[in-house]
Amino acid sequence: MKRLLIGLSLAGVFLAACHTARTQSEPQVIVVPPDEMSRQPALGPSTAGSPPAAPTPATVKPSATTVSLPPPAAAPANKHSYNSCNVDGPYIAITFDDGPHAVHTPTLLDMLKQRGLKATFYVVGQCAAEYPDIMKRIVAEGHEIGNHSWSHVALNSVGADSLRKQMENTNAAIKESTGLRPATMRPPYGATSARLNKLFDEEYGMKVILWSVDPLDWKNRNAATVSSRIIQNTHPGAIILAHDIHATTVAAMPEVFDTLTARGYKFVTVSELLALDRPAQLVKKETPAPTPAN
Ligand code: CO
Repeated sequence: MKRLLIGLSLAGVFLAACHTARTQSEPQVIVVPPDEMSRQPALGPSTAGSPPAAPTPATVKPSATTVSLPPPAAAPANKHSYNSCNVDGPYIAITFDDGPHAVHTPTLLDMLKQRGLKATFYVVGQCAAEYPDIMKRIVAEGHEIGNHSWSHVALNSVGADSLRKQMENTNAAIKESTGLRPATMRPPYGATSARLNKLFDEEYGMKVILWSVDPLDWKNRNAATVSSRIIQNTHPGAIILAHDIHATTVAAMPEVFDTLTARGYKFVTVSELLALDRPAQLVKKETPAPTPAN
């Protein structure tokens, strides 16, 4: 009983934290060099004839405005995490973490809808539970939803029981509002490990998605700074990190969307980008990287 009460009071703290925590600065992320985390050490020989089950990309919804994609190439079966993808073409995935936010997320959804662009939202479970209507709207408009833990903890510093609750309660909140099971997750602060990446993939059926473009938008609350950092650093196959809980980040998006689109980039969801991932040596050298306009 005591344990239950502690659990309930913790849940209360988590729920109450949704408003306040969402407006605080995100602590400095653990530095994950681009592509460092995606270089997985061999995790032991896999049993012949029993490859890990591929997760169902349940969050990818067909949409009238989805860009036409070339046929997918098979990604390595033992790859559990990604900072970016190797793609033949100017495909990129922009991701928004830590929401949904009552005001900024709907504003961002309007901007995306107006341009027919797709994004991926790594939601915090306690906020997903608080804003089911925004969750429904995200999915209805063709975007992807991923798991960003229940209360934004560093998942590599909690015990097994807490880790399971962080993952499962968030998936439950996502299922409750959207009926979907996420195909990908993002560890808060990028705090993960080879062991956790394998666990998230094989036990929960979620690939671990880090990033290759980070505008530090939680730290520098200036729309022009955020947009120029994203525009300057975006590359074919990029996974862009941003946060839809900051007004300045959302204010940066029209410039980001319109400039990158003008340069030929195609915004796809993370699961769509992963489906295009192929061994680096097979990617054409003459990948049509959009030419900078200025
Ligand atoms: Co976060």
